[in-house]
Amino acid sequence: MRITYYGHSCFLLETSKAALLIDPFLSGNPKAPCGPDDLTPDYILVTHGHGDHLGDTVAIARRRSATVVSTFEVCNWLGQQGVSRCHAQHLGGGFAHPWGRLQLTLALHGSSMPDGSHGGNPCGLLLAVDGKTIYHAGDTGLFSDMQLIGEGGLDLALLPIGDNYTMGPDAALRAVKFLRPVTVIPMHYDTFPVIRQDARAWAGRVEAETRARAVVLAPGDTWTL
Ligand code: NI
Ligand code: MN
Repeated sequence: MRITYYGHSCFLLETSKAALLIDPFLSGNPKAPCGPDDLTPDYILVTHGHGDHLGDTVAIARRRSATVVSTFEVCNWLGQQGVSRCHAQHLGGGFAHPWGRLQLTLALHGSSMPDGSHGGNPCGLLLAVDGKTIYHAGDTGLFSDMQLIGEGGLDLALLPIGDNYTMGPDAALRAVKFLRPVTVIPMHYDTFPVIRQDARAWAGRVEAETRARAVVLAPGDTWTL
């Protein structure tokens, strides 16, 4: 499975059956390697309503007729913006999509929509696709139930390390110890000065203190799972 990083928390997963785009924040992202018109996903997965995650979801979904999967509240709002294909789920709930299973997980954070309306609870994403299990934490602080998310085994965890709005490097290192993934990729750092971090130093700590492999991707990089 090809996994391409588009900066911040945006990843494209090219699975055998569909291209899944997560948290497409491209317009207004100073680190984005391309614009929203360059991406052609079949599905868009959105962790919460904040502009740096919802991002270009409306424009891409309308142009592509892509299906958006998110929480009930985010999907309701997207419907009001003219996004016709939405699949609403909620925390703890899983669904077998045509490309694999997606369960929404807890995330300790907020969620408001661009117009200021309430976005419900934010979420993380636990995917089982092409025989691999992938956890995208969304925006979150550390929580000990990450141990439950990792219980079934994780091939890959995508974790925020930026601090200020989410887990910082120390908490994210503890998260790796709770989740015990085979590989971890850091995200949600360096986009803005307030979340600047040394991702390579963090990766070194992960590999010294845990059994996980830490892979640092630059925006535009593709990695194969
Ligand atoms: Ni957020
Ligand atoms: Mn964010």
